[in-house]
Amino acid sequence: MSTPHRARFEQSVWVGGACYVFGMSPRFITFEGLDGSGKSSHLETAVSWFVQAGIPVVSTHEPGGTPLGDAIRRLFLDPKWGRLDGTVESLLVFASRRQHLLEVIDPALAEGRVVVCDRFTDSTLAYQGAGRGVPLDVLRDADRLATGSRVPDRTLLFDLPAEIARERGQGDSRRAEPGGVDRLDAEELSFYSRVRQGYRDVAAAEPHRFRIIDSSGSRDQTEAQVRAALVDVLEA
Ligand code: TMP
Repeated sequence: MSTPHRARFEQSVWVGGACYVFGMSPRFITFEGLDGSGKSSHLETAVSWFVQAGIPVVSTHEPGGTPLGDAIRRLFLDPKWGRLDGTVESLLVFASRRQHLLEVIDPALAEGRVVVCDRFTDSTLAYQGAGRGVPLDVLRDADRLATGSRVPDRTLLFDLPAEIARERGQGDSRRAEPGGVDRLDAEELSFYSRVRQGYRDVAAAEPHRFRIIDSSGSRDQTEAQVRAALVDVLEA
């Protein structure tokens, strides 16, 4: 029988109002970046590496990841609302996030699994904070309420110019898919440039947590960086 992949010791520390859980090996891992950055397909590959390595892993995403969260996601992305106030958007994604933590993330971590999550609070800081202009201290307050200021152990930021992300994320093939263009896809390029900068600012403030993946190159070049960013976890 396989034994759970557990950190051998863990310690939580509060720094600047955020709760970091330190352990021997990162277990709560998030993938972040602009739409069109390629993070979601690289996440699938990374999850297959964990499976091959015999490490119990849960793959999940935000907004969503639970039945309630998926209902909020459909509401959140529905183009019929047009541009929403950033605080309204934040309250929706934080409601989804709290349910996700309670129902999926925390139970999986408690069982000793690695959780690989497509987006978490950094998305809100970048999209609603830098993109929509909601003050970061307001988002930090909401985060304290929703998640107890939970911070992932490791975050891979897929970074590339907004122009390239937009081209990739909104190519003709994606537009042709059912639901291929959502409410946020309708935003202008300047919005996505602010979101990119927002991500880079958060990453610069927490270099120990972030691994910046330059995703402007080929798929293979990006995949090699993803592997390097996770090799210690895969071989722990
Ligand atoms: P996805 O396409 O990567 O699943 O993300 C859905 C959209 O939701 C994407 O445009 C980013 C946006 N989003 C926010 O604006 N704030 C958030 O907190 C999250 C998690 C996603």
